[in-house]
Amino acid sequence: MVDFFEPSNVGTDNPRLIDWVEEMVKLAKPDSVYWCDGSKEEYNELSSLMVKNGTLMPLNPEKRPGCFLARSDPNDVARVENRTFICSRNEIDAGPTNNWVEPNQMLTTLRELFDGAMSGRRMYVVPFSMGPLGSHISHIGVQLTDSPYVAMSMRVMTRMGQSALNVLGKNGTFVPCMHSVGAPLQPGEKDKPWPCNDTKYIVHFPEERSIWSFGSGYGGNALLGKKCFSLRIASVMARDEGWLAEHMLILGLESPQGEKTYVAAAFPSACGKTNLAMLIPPEGYEGWKVSTVGDDIAWIKPGDDGRLYAINPEAGYFGVVPGTSMKTNPNAMKMLEQDTIFTNVALTDDGDVWWEGKDGEVPSHLIDWKGNDWTPEVNVLASHPNARFTCATSQCPSADPAWDDPNGVPISAFIFGGRLSNTFPLVYEARDWSHGVYMASTMGSEATAAADNQAAIRRDPMAMLPFCGYNMADYWTHWLNLGNKLENAPKIFRVNWFRKDSEGNFIWPGFGENMRVLEWIVERVNGHNDANDTPIGWMPNYEDLNWNGLDFSPELFSKIMTIDAADAMLEAEAQKDLFDEFGDRLPQELEQQRQHLKERLS
Ligand code: GTP
Ligand code: SPV
Ligand code: MN
Repeated sequence: MVDFFEPSNVGTDNPRLIDWVEEMVKLAKPDSVYWCDGSKEEYNELSSLMVKNGTLMPLNPEKRPGCFLARSDPNDVARVENRTFICSRNEIDAGPTNNWVEPNQMLTTLRELFDGAMSGRRMYVVPFSMGPLGSHISHIGVQLTDSPYVAMSMRVMTRMGQSALNVLGKNGTFVPCMHSVGAPLQPGEKDKPWPCNDTKYIVHFPEERSIWSFGSGYGGNALLGKKCFSLRIASVMARDEGWLAEHMLILGLESPQGEKTYVAAAFPSACGKTNLAMLIPPEGYEGWKVSTVGDDIAWIKPGDDGRLYAINPEAGYFGVVPGTSMKTNPNAMKMLEQDTIFTNVALTDDGDVWWEGKDGEVPSHLIDWKGNDWTPEVNVLASHPNARFTCATSQCPSADPAWDDPNGVPISAFIFGGRLSNTFPLVYEARDWSHGVYMASTMGSEATAAADNQAAIRRDPMAMLPFCGYNMADYWTHWLNLGNKLENAPKIFRVNWFRKDSEGNFIWPGFGENMRVLEWIVERVNGHNDANDTPIGWMPNYEDLNWNGLDFSPELFSKIMTIDAADAMLEAEAQKDLFDEFGDRLPQELEQQRQHLKERLS
């Protein structure tokens, strides 16, 4: 056995941290331990190491300076929802929408899996802050991992290294995040470019506030600051402490008169948060500015003035690549020109990257995401549908001046949107807070490539179905309580960009044109605009939206706005199945909202 580390080399005197690392080293038995300081030199060393062992390929420095391509194992490409567990002491506290195993039983399983899991490898100690360093909204985590790809990604995605240890100090608390790809190496055994294990466990202990992840090196399974900490564990902290941890983008909208409004929007995975967060106003919107605070997660706390203030706990974007183009997201295209890690996209013959939906001609030859030769004739996708980029938020041309502000930004509206081809209107506004919570809790969406779930359409309350760390009904109660206490609660809206015609084409042009809906929302919030009182909520008339620069007829508008009363009634009836799952934990306020909707419809 090797002498694992000398505490004199460690930039912390936090006894709880040192004890935990020692305990985990004894369990996982790595060959060596390395404490990450978060420096650029360290980032470069990690990348060189991975270039040497084949995990990373440097891209053409003339075309993509500072960029790398990684190809994952084809069996490790997305979040594994059916291997994700919430191990609260009582099953009812995890609720019917989460996988649950009794915590001691799960710990026994995990200790067996992690015993020697890191042998032949180095363990990286990755201290990080979710949120601006030292902000009263931020929290510290420490991830132990045997994946240099994860350590390197965490430097992009979080405030990582010695600075986080300094905030932690001697007596601070942190969320312990134990991670292994689950592929120990025998002496002399050659490593794979993307080691992982067919057995996967993504496990959360909400009462202990700890995380164990085994077997995957990809995205939300492995970058534990993201979904595991900032949503599943943080949602529990937020319930206990009176705040919100949400699957939301945060954006700022500035009118030509200089009036600035911030909104937060929840959409399920791969349903357009990144696109909306980086939107460029279309023709007809001269003088308007949209700026980006975050594209995936919001931590939101009540301020002394009765408003809600939001921060983006992350410092980087882990965004879907396919479909990104100068037409859909010019800001992202500029952001990805340098210093980006691409995972599971295709490689061009001149050392650049390519993906489905990119601008320009389809290349005549590529190496696809699996490393195989690809030509347009072969009938497979060149990039994986859940291929992702990892890059720093500071690189985003539309970064909001307050993206790193420790106080957060004041939120004036919450927007909820699913991916629904049929029946759901472009936009409407809740009658009040509790109606808004009801609308968000019953949200449905079609499945995407971001996770391995097979459902066609599923209920995805607040876009939090895979991310709520406790009983979803208690989460609704928390939402109701929090908003009902606020003096200046945000208004709540629902949107749907995805309605299709009978040929299967999207009716709404979307992307930059979503600005028209955002403007209506902002005008409603600021009390400048009209709407129609309908049974489902407040809806804009055709003339309430700004059509400057877009040819979109009243007929088409009515196609994506009207919902048949009979269809709406069927939907309200179907929601009963969802609510019934929660038994007596369901807040009665939500069932009353459902009854009121049925009355208004009949
Ligand atoms: P996660 O990172 O997985 O949480 O998801 P996200 O919500 O950030 O997803 P992202 O922005 O990467 O979603 C991309 C998908 O949404 C692509 O398939 C886009 O084409 C689609 N999309 C985004 N905005 C629009 C829109 O306005 N209209 C249409 N039709 N599709 C859109
Ligand atoms: C999502 O799936 O919602 C993501 C990507 O944002 S991952 O980090 O892999 O969860
Ligand atoms: Mn997400």
